Amino acid sequence: MHVLVAGGAGYIGSHTVVQLKRAGHDVTIVDDFDNSKATAVARLEELTGGHLPLHAFDLCDPDKTEALFASERFDAVIHFAGHKAVGESVSEPLKYYRNNLDSTFSLVRAMKAHGVHRLVFSSSATVYGDAAPQPCQEEFTPLQSGGGPYGWTKVMNEQILADVARATPDLKVALLRYFNPVGAHPSGTIGEDPQGIPNNLMPFISQVAVGRREKLTVFGDDYPTADGTCERDYIHVEDLAAGHLAALEHIDAMTEPVRAFNLGSGVPTSVLGMIKAFEAATGVPVPYEIGPRRDGDLPITYADPSRALAELGWRTTKSVEDMCADTWRWQSANPQGYPD
Ligand code: WQD
Repeated sequence: MHVLVAGGAGYIGSHTVVQLKRAGHDVTIVDDFDNSKATAVARLEELTGGHLPLHAFDLCDPDKTEALFASERFDAVIHFAGHKAVGESVSEPLKYYRNNLDSTFSLVRAMKAHGVHRLVFSSSATVYGDAAPQPCQEEFTPLQSGGGPYGWTKVMNEQILADVARATPDLKVALLRYFNPVGAHPSGTIGEDPQGIPNNLMPFISQVAVGRREKLTVFGDDYPTADGTCERDYIHVEDLAAGHLAALEHIDAMTEPVRAFNLGSGVPTSVLGMIKAFEAATGVPVPYEIGPRRDGDLPITYADPSRALAELGWRTTKSVEDMCADTWRWQSANPQGYPD
């Protein structure tokens, strides 16, 4: 297939590009580099051993998006493009609603106009909010967002795509609900490169380990969990990327126009468990202190990944130790992330 990877220079997109190429697909990347670096694409070309066609523009521009689809024939789109910082979305909601919805509108309009009928969309476990029984199952109807305006953009995107898929003969949409993506390509050449102070646990741990930050603050140790810290379902980005390939390969066989799939391991790990695993896998100490709870954090959330196994033949294969070792290989080789 010729796959358009929207947001292909970003963290999850870049890892998926490597696996698409390895599986023999042709890949075209579109990315506006708002939260990614051109160096990532250069590294991808080294990893995949060939030129990667790249279009540097903002998908919110419907004319540029239409022109791209008019100039090339795509068999499928994987849509990773979007803003993703929950905290920033609370202070800048319009930025999130505009970007995360407009990019989908442009893409889907162009797909319909040019008869492209396979779409894999980056959704999030945040759509389960705090009302879903644990482990989270796809049948739960997301009527709330656990992640501020950012989370609402995922809920809304899911609804919009479901409505469009039901109204468009042949269009098939796979909604992939990611749990907590961490890790990096085992080569250590591509990985997560958050701008500014990381919001998420694993990049914070690895930046403390590499000396960029003094210590980690653990947000609360008085939760009703085994060690008092929150438990999450961490998933290696390589497993996550493989989940996109599995969705792409099975999308034509979907009996419904739209289907959601959890991409998680089904096994929760606590914050302290993650710190210990990182120290054990790398031999590098991670100084931390216990701080207050962070607003909006759930004590525990994890996936029931059985639908993805039954219908996509996909399951996670990498351990928490792999996640830590691969994160460290990337972070220690690239202490400041990608060079400009
Ligand atoms: C994990 C655990 C924190 C940082 C968020 C979004 C979700 C998705 C992924 C996407 C929690 C604790 C964290 C720190 C800590 N977003 N923690 N100290 O909150 O499960 O999910 O990221 O793009 O939509 O909500 O992930 O990595 O922020 O936190 O103690 O400095 O680590 O309290 O228990 P979260 P996270």
